[in-house]
Amino acid sequence: MLSEDRFEHSVSTARYGFELGNQYGVDPERAFLAGILHDVAREFSSGYLLLQARKEGIIPRKEEKICPFLLHGKVAASIVEKEIGIKDKGVLDAIASHVTGRRQWAKLEQVVYLADKVEPTRDYPKADTVRRLLEKGEFDCALLESLRNAIIYAAQTRGRIVDTETVVVFNEIAKAQARY
Ligand SMILES: [Fe+2]
Ligand SMILES: [Fe+2]
Repeated sequence: MLSEDRFEHSVSTARYGFELGNQYGVDPERAFLAGILHDVAREFSSGYLLLQARKEGIIPRKEEKICPFLLHGKVAASIVEKEIGIKDKGVLDAIASHVTGRRQWAKLEQVVYLADKVEPTRDYPKADTVRRLLEKGEFDCALLESLRNAIIYAAQTRGRIVDTETVVVFNEIAKAQARY
């Protein structure tokens, strides 16, 4: 289902997720599993993603209708559940939420989100900053930085929109970290 590059990215996400799981008290094997499967729907066309979503009872949000690419996590989770038979709700949530983040998300989801964004083959300049924060044990700072990068990237890229869910998640974490 994936090009060679995307497959390598998935393997790297799985391995880095495994490492982060070990480091941050999340079951590394669940992080690996979500990591290897997170992008199985990434190369579907917009039309096919919308079709699959409808078939699976996923109701697209406004942003997802405008930019169906945003659905590839949720569609992947339904494929993984129905076609591979994985029933682990935490793993399915991590696959579903890796695109935009999710309010009140579990640590496993956060680990997989970060592994996807900054696995070692990701070479955009800010990825390194996030990896360094993770090495230092600054998990929440790394997560905030990664969400910030995602929002800026979406805003600066033609054809993308800033997903409100990512903004809500960013604000949740920023608020928790704010010093008064
Ligand atoms: Fe993805
Ligand atoms: Fe990915």
